[in-house]
Amino acid sequence: MFRRNPAKSACSLAWTTSAVLAAVLLFPPRVLAGTAGVGWDETIAAKSVKPGTVAGLAKLYDSGPCAECHRGIYDQWRKSTHSASMFNGGRMTAALRKFILEGLVRWPSSGVKAPGDVKVKHLMVCAKCHLPQLADATDEVAREILETIETWQGAIDGNDPKTRDQAAEKLSSLNIGCLLCHNRNAVIHKLVDGYPAAGAVYGNREGAHPGSFAVMKKGESLGESIFCGQCHGYGPNFDLENPVQCATAYGSYLFAYVRGGGGETCQDCHMRKNRLGHNMQGASEPVMDNAALDVATEVRGYLWKDVSTYVPRVVVEVSLTNRAGHAIPEGPPSSKRLALEVTATGGNNDAPLFSETRNYRAVSMRFGRSGLMGEGPHENSGFTDDTSLPPLQAVRERFDFVAKSEDIAGGRVVVRVRIRQLEDGALDSGAPDWYEFRKELKMEKYP
Ligand code: HEC
Ligand code: HEC
Ligand code: HEC
Ligand code: HEC
Ligand code: HEC
Repeated sequence: MFRRNPAKSACSLAWTTSAVLAAVLLFPPRVLAGTAGVGWDETIAAKSVKPGTVAGLAKLYDSGPCAECHRGIYDQWRKSTHSASMFNGGRMTAALRKFILEGLVRWPSSGVKAPGDVKVKHLMVCAKCHLPQLADATDEVAREILETIETWQGAIDGNDPKTRDQAAEKLSSLNIGCLLCHNRNAVIHKLVDGYPAAGAVYGNREGAHPGSFAVMKKGESLGESIFCGQCHGYGPNFDLENPVQCATAYGSYLFAYVRGGGGETCQDCHMRKNRLGHNMQGASEPVMDNAALDVATEVRGYLWKDVSTYVPRVVVEVSLTNRAGHAIPEGPPSSKRLALEVTATGGNNDAPLFSETRNYRAVSMRFGRSGLMGEGPHENSGFTDDTSLPPLQAVRERFDFVAKSEDIAGGRVVVRVRIRQLEDGALDSGAPDWYEFRKELKMEKYP
């Protein structure tokens, strides 16, 4: 995230002192491209030939060799979405395709008139977090990614599962693997701690390490939330030429969770306490003993005196307190909803009396002036509902409906809270309900 793009540093060279110009003469330009400090020439990217194929890029940061000795961790990682961060069941691939074809190709100043014009720097708008190492590859790789996406889509449309699976496999070979977290992106403050050196794995200790990565170095921020924050978002990414906003968990962690008195790190909840380790998960596996939310429900049926007539009514009150370290749901709002469903049935044949679902979604994705997620001149503040549940604050909801008193008396109310994965409309994520509450209704007189 703190990598500067080459255009910016080229321009900063224009006004820097002759000392820097002298350095340009001493080091090949590629060493200085995109970096401000010294030591970049010791990184994996600097020490290797720039990969010109997807296979070459995958090999440069391959997790396969680590599995030999770290099998347990490798298997955990394979189950996490980090291991397919450009594919993920096709959802990421589909979104990337949309970004290219409905975004880049249409934007007048993108320089992309046809898909073949796509370069690495265009894809970095997403790859900054989904595939940071793409910055180390040639533009041929960007084009090959796009071709593979088209092959994948074509095979789906043409009902050709074999070609589809081959394309999916290729896209999944690009991921956030061991060497991303334990080398390439392991050091955040590079001017203080130095650029990550090829041949070292960054962990919690110093010492010798077997195999071609011969030393262990200490990754100073590896155990801290900022480490995850480099990809897990804090709002629009202003460091990009066209800011985009996808994940926002880190922003919400900093400004709401820590502010609210929360003291745990991402690693505490997502790796250590739940023992999921490298299988970092969202809703699909219990992150915190299945209790991400405290839910309290109260239901009352009563006769309410409306001037002179009694009206039978039901009130359902629900209080939701999010105990996660950030707002939920989180991530792009296109993908998930947290649903609070209240249904009431009553009378002789359990007839439906009332049903309402309230949806909570992630803070809206800001493409700003993209025409992709709205044509807003700025960022659409105020026009969209950003209704994710903030951490450590009770959100109170009230449902109130009128029914016949004989129905209420024998009636039942069910309150459910769950995560839904949206795909072509609406689908269940398969995750277990977080909360289910059932209560028989009793009629009370309004005092
Ligand atoms: C030949 C076996 C072997 C291979 C291959 C191997 N490791 Fe290790 N790794 C070890 C051993 C053994 C240790 C513990 C060293 C010690 O305790 O002194 C270790 C330690 C580590 C640590 C530090 C753990 C800590 O406690 O902080 C990290 C990080 C790590 N390895 C990552 C990797 C990565 C990434 C790869 C693939 C590039 C890899 N290892 C490949 C055997 C291996
Ligand atoms: C600031 C880093 C960052 C940037 C930039 C970014 N993403 Fe993301 N994206 C993430 C993270 C982290 C997640 C996972 C968060 C979650 O699911 O709560 C994610 C999740 C997603 C998902 C959901 C995947 C799934 O499995 O359902 C899609 C789709 C997606 N991103 C598309 C994009 C596209 C397309 C772009 C570029 C236009 C982009 N992202 C830019 C960090 C980023
Ligand atoms: C998304 C980032 C990320 C990825 C990908 C990742 N790690 Fe880690 N790894 C971490 C973090 C963070 C810690 C420190 C956890 C802690 O302090 O509790 C860690 C700890 C470790 C440790 C030492 C602690 C332990 O659990 O034994 C080893 C060894 C290790 N990782 C190896 C690997 C290997 C091998 C892979 C690839 C299969 C891998 N990691 C992929 C972030 C990552
Ligand atoms: C190099 C960037 C990067 C780093 C570092 C990183 N992540 Fe991620 N993470 C992602 C991306 C991108 C995704 C989404 C992949 C997708 O769905 O396409 C993701 C997905 C996740 C998910 C799954 C979200 C879901 O909806 O199921 C969790 C949980 C997660 N990361 C936690 C962490 C934690 C905890 C750390 C720090 C130890 C961390 N990540 C470090 C980029 C990163
Ligand atoms: C106090 C514990 C806690 C802390 C701290 C925490 N999380 Fe979470 N996180 C959770 C729980 C519980 C969930 C499950 C709720 C869910 O899936 O929405 C979750 C879900 C997620 C998801 C999936 C979001 C979704 O909508 O499915 C991502 C991504 C994530 N966390 C990343 C992070 C990152 C990055 C950090 C650090 C900046 C972090 N978490 C800190 C408890 C925590």
